[in-house]
Amino acid sequence: MENQAVQTTEKKKETVFSAIQPSGAITLGNYLGAIRNWVRMQESGDYHCIYALADLHTITVRQEPAQFRKNVIDMYASILACGVDVEKAPFFIQSHNPNHAVMAWILDCYTQFGELSRMTQFKDKSAKHADNINAGLFTYPSLMAGDILLYQADKVPVGADQKQHIELTRDIANRFNSIYGNVFKIPEGFIPKDGARVMSLQNPLNKMSKSDENVNGYVLLTDPDNVIMKKFKRAVTDSEAKVRYAEGKEGINNLMSIYSAVTGLSFEQIEHDFDGKGYGDFKTAVGEAVIAEIAPIRKRYEEYLKDKKYLEECYRKSDEFAIRYSSRTVEKAMKKIGFVK
Ligand code: TYM
Repeated sequence: MENQAVQTTEKKKETVFSAIQPSGAITLGNYLGAIRNWVRMQESGDYHCIYALADLHTITVRQEPAQFRKNVIDMYASILACGVDVEKAPFFIQSHNPNHAVMAWILDCYTQFGELSRMTQFKDKSAKHADNINAGLFTYPSLMAGDILLYQADKVPVGADQKQHIELTRDIANRFNSIYGNVFKIPEGFIPKDGARVMSLQNPLNKMSKSDENVNGYVLLTDPDNVIMKKFKRAVTDSEAKVRYAEGKEGINNLMSIYSAVTGLSFEQIEHDFDGKGYGDFKTAVGEAVIAEIAPIRKRYEEYLKDKKYLEECYRKSDEFAIRYSSRTVEKAMKKIGFVK
């Protein structure tokens, strides 16, 4: 009886799914925009969370094999260091679950060329990698849609840059459901109020990204304290020398958003606290707040990296769960389409 009650409450929990590409190290943007929410949702106990390392997505851009392998393990350790706990939320490696490739192909056939052509990430990436505009780069959003739909996710915690992909996922799912009945849950993006779009410290009109050529543009969770402080001290600002949030002050706006996301202080409070103080003081305060937040993560990361066996145990266990869980959706979708079992 008691068990049944537990199961009923379990069933009511919404499912959360999200993933990150293994680029080697997590940026402050990834952390504030997404990973911090992964951990918060996991810890709230209100959701059934499933997370993945989206390594299939990564080969849309050419990878050096040894470095790629290392990046996957480093990134796996980093995410655990941020607080993802596989006992509460499976965290698997996408390529270890063949259902993702199968679902991507199926969804490719329900996604329109025009829809994919409108994706801003495709436009950006094809401009950046003009010598390798491969089909995978183009169909990347249907692989991502499959990731989400396979787990019948209700909520997808991501940064603002993924909003368009989530909207496409909903369109694809609705299209499929309108043909075959209720096969997929229609997911919603879960985009934070603070930190949804962390910008480059060197060019605050661009989002913070590890692919920035200027290393001072991004902060990595693995950066030592003195490097983090140096990057904030060099951050581009403006000539007004007043800490206030306003149009045309993108550098300061970005620093205020980061500071607010890390400390929980409102913009008004920050403006009040730094009234009459210079940018130097403000940059130091932002640097210190960020260091306080991420230095413990770096320490845990170093510990996890020493224990490769433990990392493998974590992903093997999560992989098995992911395969089992997602197989139900693949089987259902294939049956509806008319594949012979
Ligand atoms: P990726 O690996 O580029 O980024 C991982 C997460 O970090 C967020 N993010 C940011 N948030 C705020 N400010 C920034 N500067 C910033 N940069 C990155 C991203 O929005 C993302 O949430 N396609 C995805 C990975 C993916 C996925 C999925 C996500 C694959 N399958 C299914 C959700 C669901 C990507 O490349 O994210």
